[in-house]
Formats: sequence, structure tokens, C-alpha cells
Amino acid sequence: MRIHFGVDYYPEHWPRERWETDAKLMKEMGVQVVRMAEFSWFKMEPSEGEFHFEWLEDAVALLDSYGIKSVLGTPTAAPPAWIIEKNPEILPIDMQGRRRHFGGRHHDCQSNPAYRAHIKRFVTAMTKRFANNPGVIGWQIDNELGNSHWDLCMCDSCKQRYQEWLENKYKKIETLNDAWGTAFWSQGFNSFAQIGTPLITAVGENPSAMLDWRTFCSDLIVDFAKWQADIIRENCPNHFITHNYMCFDEKVNYYDLGELLDFVSNDIYPAGNWQQQPHQPCHMMAASHDVIRGYKKKPFWMMEQQANTAGWGTMGHALDPGQMAAWAMQSVAHGADAVVFFRWRTCAMGTEQYWHGILGHSGIPGRVYQEAQKLIKTFEPYMEEFQGSMPKPEVAIVHSFRQAYALQIQPNHPDLWYVGQLHKYYKGFYDQKIPVDFVQGMDDLSQYKLVVAPLQYIMTPELEQHYIDYVENGGHLVLTMRTGVKDDNNLCMTDRCLPGRLGDICGIEIPEYDCLFCKECSALYGSKDYPIEKWADIITLKGATALAEYGSSFYKGMPAVTENTYGKGKVWYVGTEPTEDFMTDLAEYFVKNSDVESLGSAPEGVEIMTRENASQKWIFVINMTNENKVYSLNDSYKMLEGEREGDLKPYEVHLFVKKKYGR
Ligand code: GAL
Repeated sequence: MRIHFGVDYYPEHWPRERWETDAKLMKEMGVQVVRMAEFSWFKMEPSEGEFHFEWLEDAVALLDSYGIKSVLGTPTAAPPAWIIEKNPEILPIDMQGRRRHFGGRHHDCQSNPAYRAHIKRFVTAMTKRFANNPGVIGWQIDNELGNSHWDLCMCDSCKQRYQEWLENKYKKIETLNDAWGTAFWSQGFNSFAQIGTPLITAVGENPSAMLDWRTFCSDLIVDFAKWQADIIRENCPNHFITHNYMCFDEKVNYYDLGELLDFVSNDIYPAGNWQQQPHQPCHMMAASHDVIRGYKKKPFWMMEQQANTAGWGTMGHALDPGQMAAWAMQSVAHGADAVVFFRWRTCAMGTEQYWHGILGHSGIPGRVYQEAQKLIKTFEPYMEEFQGSMPKPEVAIVHSFRQAYALQIQPNHPDLWYVGQLHKYYKGFYDQKIPVDFVQGMDDLSQYKLVVAPLQYIMTPELEQHYIDYVENGGHLVLTMRTGVKDDNNLCMTDRCLPGRLGDICGIEIPEYDCLFCKECSALYGSKDYPIEKWADIITLKGATALAEYGSSFYKGMPAVTENTYGKGKVWYVGTEPTEDFMTDLAEYFVKNSDVESLGSAPEGVEIMTRENASQKWIFVINMTNENKVYSLNDSYKMLEGEREGDLKPYEVHLFVKKKYGR
């Protein structure tokens, strides 16, 4: 069974007489899978216990008769009005203490026992009903968990869960008081029962408490997903379970969530209507795919790949001819085993009337349909072979939800964005056509020649030791500003000079620093003076050498970037946030001195990526722009798709392969 291309389909939005036309058009386009039902609870259970799955069974059977398989979503991101009427306490409460009401989606509290009971009843019935349906292959739990829940939920049920979570973590209230530093502003507690959810305060908040709250929220969402995953596993042992992630989104720890799933799926809208630019920069899209691959260290599905103009109240632009296909192939190049387009047909009703699909409102196939058809016809034949293959990067960037949370709670500099800083480092490698993995700090790093660990703000003795061992054994490590500042409770560490124990492997000490808020500064590297941003660690050398020096302020001439040899390896410390040109030059230096290899060379906007398995290695060259471009590869490969090697037309994709012998 080949399942590589599909669409998100909402048959319940259209008259039945249309379904067969849809199935036929899908088949002609090359669709092999649809995702359905993730928002159709009311249609399946219009009142308590009154189940109507027949319409969905009919849709599944019809599609199956055209050779199209179904992934079903549990519709728990949109509880119907009758559930809210019966159990209004399900509606979530925001930080202002206000209830959010029915009329959109995600109007649910994920800890609420009444809601959990409704879910149990419904998901049990749905999974039992479809367990042996030959058209169904798998499940998507809920939809984009964490989306819309940014400041939710502060209700009594969540409060009770939070108190239990804290008691389980700290056991004694005195331990919590120490861990949260409640001596400050008289915030001590006598019992766990006194601790509330973080409703808006008169002023300020406790960073340690907030870090626990963020972690609790993530754990709660994972538990909410598990509530459903357990039911699906029990009733549908032959089906897979996945969930549609949102790239780098931080509300739920995607590594933890991934443990419940067979594979991860992703949603990507590079030209969302909310964006101030024509589309997300290509390196950010690429990084999103790489982090998605990193959450489970395996290939993934795209469950919602943007097909056309995005829009709710206002709209983004129409995609250029070929742009959607180039984006889809970028997903594949980074590890997608299947690409499902959002959505099949542009909806005529509701909030998303302007979120355009493969078909427009009219349902008549047009340019976008033909482009999707061509894409599938061209690349489907290779997709089966790509299955399971992965890139094998020599560079890793460390990614952590905990660092993200701590730096959201206290960004240090008002514009510091943890994920943004990962993107900056990533771009330094992306532009050199060097594949990158995202890893967690405690992962086995030994397979990487170069590891970049930006903003290691929260530090534990275990992580320190892990980095020390990596370098000692020959690894090349880049550490940056704000490393080793906080302990795991989000309290500032006092037993050391920054960056703590890692100062030994860096060969430096940082007795002072300067937040570059309302202040300009530069760094001299080679013969150039580069502007720098946000931060300046004022570094004293303790064995390291200076690679770059500050060009202004009272620390002019002091080291901004350092290099140190330790054990068999090397550590670079970057005491600031380099601006783009500086980052480019630094990344080139790191690459050169770590023997990392590039796949080729090409101007900005041309992506070169690779996937491989035991017998073959593929190279994807993708023109992400509407201009002609040139490129060259650093090795010789056999061209499988494309017109002229080295020359790309707008949005053209070239595919190459190399057989690996002797294995
Ligand atoms: C996604 C979501 C879809 C749809 C789409 C367009 O975030 O999963 O259900 O809402 O955005 O807005």
C-alpha cells in the first residue's frame, strides 16, 4: 500500500452527491490518503450517546473504493454545544480569570474530569466502530494540541491538578519554598493547597513558579493525549497514532508527546495570512522540518502542507506557480514520508472560508489542482524508496523546551527569542548547504563533529558533564551568551563565575556582562567590524584565545568570541548575538575547523538537502525562488529528475541519487 500524498478532507461540509466527484478527482490527482473528522464531533454524536458514524463510514468506503485510505482525527478540539450546556465547567479560564466561551474551537479544559469522561465515551465508541474498517489506517489525536491554549486554563480543576503535580514533585512544602525562592516578596506557602494557577497578579511573577507552571501545562497536555492514545491502542491495535505538531511551537514538549505516537506529523503554513512578509524565510521552514524529524529521530508526515492562499478574516497572497510543489518537496527532502495538503476544497462556511484548498470554492479543478497532480506524478514513483531514509548530519543544534520556557519567562533582553536564536545559528549552516539535526542536550552527541548549544541558560550538573565529555572525546562545541546562569529551579547560580563549570572547557570567565538594550555595540573579527545584538559577555581569558573583540563601550578590545582546546576537542564561546554577516563568517570558521562537509554551493534561496539509507543517498536541490538559479554539487550523483544539472528554473526541483556499494 503506497501512502505518500493526500489531502485534508471535510465531506461533512458538502452535499453527499458531491462526494463521488471528489473521490474521482482525488484519484486523478494521485491522492492516496485523506485525513477526516477531526472537527466533526456534533455530526457524529448530536446528543449524548446518540452516535451517527454512518456518514463517515460511507465516506471512508467511497474513498476506499477509489483506493484512498483514511486517517481519522478524534474531534476533541471542538466539543459540541450540548456538552457545554451539560458541563459548562469544561470551558477554560484565562489568566484574567475570564471564561472563554463556545463559538470557536479549543474551548476545553484539558484536566476537567467531566470533559475527560465525554472523551472516553466518544473516543471508545468511535475507535470500536472503525477498528476493523478496511479503509482506515490510523488516527490523529485531537488537533494541534497547545494551539489556542496559550493563557489557558486557570480553572479549579487545573488548580487541583497543579497542586497534586507540585506535591508529587516536591513532597514537602518547605522544599517548594526553597526551590521557588519564596523568601522574596513574602511569597512563602504553608501548604500546597495555598498555591493557585497563575492568574494575573498586581505586579510581577515568580520565575521559578512560572517554570513549573509551564512544565505542568506541558505534562497535562501529554496526559490529555495519553487519555486518548490508550483507548485507541486498546481498540485499534493495527492502526497507527500520530498528532499534527506545529514546528517549533512551545506549549507542549513535543519530545514527551512523541513518546505516545508511532510517528510525528507537522503542519506548515509558510505564507500564513498573519505574516508581514511574502513567506517565512526558507531556512526557517527547513529548520522546522529538521526539528520535527528530531522529535522522534525518524521520518514524519506532513499532515497539513499549505496548498494555497491562507486566510481567515484577511488573506495572504496567492502562491506562485510551482511554489506549493517546491515547499512540499522541501518537506520530503527533510524527512517527510507523506505529504497531506490542507485542504481539499476551500470551505464555503465558518471561520476558514478564505483558507484556500487544492480546489477553490467552485470545486472546479484549476491551476493548483494541476500543479499538485504534476508534483505527485513526478515524485510519487520515488517516495516508496525514500521511506525511512534520513539525512546524516555532521552538525547538531541543541534544542530544549525548558530553555525556551525559562527565556520566555525572563528573556533577559526584551527582543531575545530562544527559537529565533536557534534559527540564526541554523542559517549559518543552511547557507553553506550543510544539513543539521536538532537534538536534546542529553542525547548522544558522539556522532556529530560539531554541536552548537545556544543559550544554555538553565544548567544541570549532568548536562555540564555531558558537554565536558563530548569535548574531551574530540567534539567541537559552540556555547553562547547566557550559558550556565540558572539552576534547574530557575534560580540564579551563585557558587561560580559564569559560565560555571563549563568555564573550564571554554578557558574563560565572565565576571560582568552588558545587556545591549538601547545601546549599540560591535565586534571586530578578522578585519571587519560587525554590529552585534542584545548582549555582550565581558570575558576574561583563562587559557582561551580571542577570536573576536568588542569594538566599542568600556570593554572595547576585550574578547567577544573565544576559542579553546580541551581534551581532544575544541570549544568556541560566543558572548553575544551575532548579526547575520557575522554569523555567516563565524559558521564558516566553525565548519572549516571541524571538518564538516558541505553538499554543494548555491545562492540564497536554493536548498540542497539529502536523505539516505543503507543502499542509496539522494540529493534534493530545490529552487525556492521565482528566479532562475545555478548550483553545483560537491560529489557526483546520477540525476533522476530535472532538466539541466546546475541550472534551476523558478521553483524547480532536481533529484539525484548515488548507490552506496560495498554494504
Ligand atoms: C491549522 C489547523 C487547521 C486549520 C488550519 C488553517 O492550524 O490545524 O485545522 O485551522 O490551521 O487555519
